[in-house]
Amino acid sequence: MPNWTLHRGDALTLLPTLDTLVDAVICDPPYNSGGRTNADRRAQGARDKYVSSDAAHTLPDFDGDTRDQRGYTHWLGLVLANTYRLTRSGGSALVFTDWAQLPATSDALQAAGWTWRGIIPWRKPISRPVKDGFRRECEYVLWGSRGAPLRHAPTIYLPGWLEGSQPRGKTRVHITQKPVAVMRQLVRIAPEGGTVLDPCAGSGTTGVAALQEGLHFIGIEQSPTCATSAEGRLAAA
Ligand SMILES: C[S@@+](CC[C@H](N)C(=O)[O-])C[C@H]1O[C@@H](n2cnc3c(N)ncnc32)[C@H](O)[C@@H]1O
Repeated sequence: MPNWTLHRGDALTLLPTLDTLVDAVICDPPYNSGGRTNADRRAQGARDKYVSSDAAHTLPDFDGDTRDQRGYTHWLGLVLANTYRLTRSGGSALVFTDWAQLPATSDALQAAGWTWRGIIPWRKPISRPVKDGFRRECEYVLWGSRGAPLRHAPTIYLPGWLEGSQPRGKTRVHITQKPVAVMRQLVRIAPEGGTVLDPCAGSGTTGVAALQEGLHFIGIEQSPTCATSAEGRLAAA
């Protein structure tokens, strides 16, 4: 029976206190993107940046989304270094990012010790058009491993790109909630019966996917409101 634990608090404070080894890290951090200048970034909360008109109900805001790119690279590097310490040899890290923070994310991943292995585009069929430009229809998942990637038995073949829209309407409880179907594809990088760690768990989508795939889950979430949503969804899963 897969089990789950959700720790409430700051990932950088809590990760050094953990000692359970995990097989995969899935990290969907606040992207710290969406503003061209420091003033832009500070003026906007996460909700102003990410919520469109489909979210008719109020979604809780969250902190940690106002760093400049150097600060973000440093912070993410620390988070990923702490998760590296907890990951078994051969385990993987899958880190979400958008186009603007892709270089910062690959720097942080590698600075933390992970060997960068590839990028999996996540295509969102429901996405905003860009006037006179190319639609920003994809976000990206960077894949890194701790040493040579684990050999699965039997061998697995995972997709090179993912597709799925964010939950809409009342099923959306978090501003940047990821689709469970997308997360289910990602957690399959862990071996059968393994453990997945998410240091920025949000509403717990990674955990829901892990439990549905028969994997154990450890999450950390700083916002008390988001943590309560995550606990509800994990208990239901
Ligand atoms: C992009 S969201 C994750 C969304 C999640 N994948 C989902 O589907 O619900 C990032 C989350 O990281 C949390 N967060 C931000 N800084 C944090 C920190 N220092 N420690 C732990 N969680 C943090 C935010 O509160 C937010 O809920």
